Amino acid sequence: MNDSTPRLTRRDLLASSVVTSLGAAALGASAPAASQPIGSMPATTKELWQWFRTQPVLDLQRTYLDVATAGPTLRAAMATEYRVRDSQSLNLASFAEGQWSAESTRMATAFGGFIGCDADEVVFTRGTGEALATVANGLDLNAGDEIVTTNREHPATVSPWLLLARRRGIVVKQIDLPAPMSGPEQALGLFAGAVTDKTKAILFSHVQYADGTLMPVQELCQFARSRNLISIVDGAQAVGMLDFQLRDLGCDFYGTSFHKWLGGSNGTGMLYVRRDMLERIWPTLPRGIDASPPVITPTQSNGHIGVPAALHKLGNIVPLSWAPLRGAEVALDFQQQVLRSRIEARIRELTIYARLRLQQLPGVEVLTPNRPGLWAGILACHVPGRLASDITLGLVRGHRVFARDLQWPGKSEGAVRISLHAFNTHDEIDKLFAGLQQVLR
Ligand SMILES: Cc1ncc(COP(=O)(O)O)c(C=O)c1O
Repeated sequence: MNDSTPRLTRRDLLASSVVTSLGAAALGASAPAASQPIGSMPATTKELWQWFRTQPVLDLQRTYLDVATAGPTLRAAMATEYRVRDSQSLNLASFAEGQWSAESTRMATAFGGFIGCDADEVVFTRGTGEALATVANGLDLNAGDEIVTTNREHPATVSPWLLLARRRGIVVKQIDLPAPMSGPEQALGLFAGAVTDKTKAILFSHVQYADGTLMPVQELCQFARSRNLISIVDGAQAVGMLDFQLRDLGCDFYGTSFHKWLGGSNGTGMLYVRRDMLERIWPTLPRGIDASPPVITPTQSNGHIGVPAALHKLGNIVPLSWAPLRGAEVALDFQQQVLRSRIEARIRELTIYARLRLQQLPGVEVLTPNRPGLWAGILACHVPGRLASDITLGLVRGHRVFARDLQWPGKSEGAVRISLHAFNTHDEIDKLFAGLQQVLR
């Protein structure tokens, strides 16, 4: 591959069509954000994906197969973020609290529309970890109450619960998810078998970060509802990769990040709070709101009247995260214009191709389920007798292919994980294959 590495230049920043649409109104509630048609987007499939590849700030000299850890940021999102920061600093004197409310409402409406919930159910956070820690720390669970989860959840998601186990005696039951999972009924059976009279909530990922297993979210949430349990879903690996609407999943809480598959910048994400769950959760970072009896402070807050309900109650960070959220909004709009269904189809097609390639390598054991409906854009494999960390090192050093090695329960060598976004190519998968052939020789 002889692509040169596109870098974000000052010219990009100033010339971006999104940026110019913002102008000095960047702080104002009426700014139309990002919904400009992408003029240069090619119509034909081949050209579309070539163009798509040039949209994020990405080192094209390397084969980057690790969006599951961190996704590259879209150039237009960065440009918008820069411009909003610029405008914010310039307009400090005209800053008004009413703008917080109006802008919070506008953004919560935009993100709610994308993910499939109401503006009143959106809380902006710095990522999935913060979103789901807000749930763990805000629910009224007591000593002896149980939460059932799996042994394959991300540390950021399960740690708040493990801490609550130590601090308050909450019981965290981690069921052993098999790899590969044989079918949705296996996950359902394992959760159903672990739930007792003391269980108050279940917690699992939409897409498992370690091996890409697509969990039967709808069925698990239905099960939770039938048993009067709270369902908490980790969507870090789903938003920006899959085309879905939250209202079809039926969960109570859903946390996600905008800095992985969506193309927003680091430190952006959200928590969905089902409307009727709002009264069951306490804020852990209140910003002088909902104080009863009222707390008098030198700058009396009116509680930001007009801010959507969940943001109002759980801490309105919009004023602090305005610029990166505006950038993430551009990323969201970008996905809608390319079409989420098209992005998902491309990711799935690349993943099938990568899987077929991996299966051609003797000794490589794919850990991601094969069954339709149980996999997405992430693959994990294990090579008995070969350390995963040696394999990933060999791929980077010898082939400039960047994959991730992970620890794996019951497999001392660990596992190699690859994640494929729509900007990846079949050529890159061939590079991975050739690299693995050499490294495993
Ligand atoms: C499944 C899962 N949950 C949570 C997180 C933490 O996300 P964040 O960094 O946005 O807090 C990650 C990060 O990789 C993840 O993969």
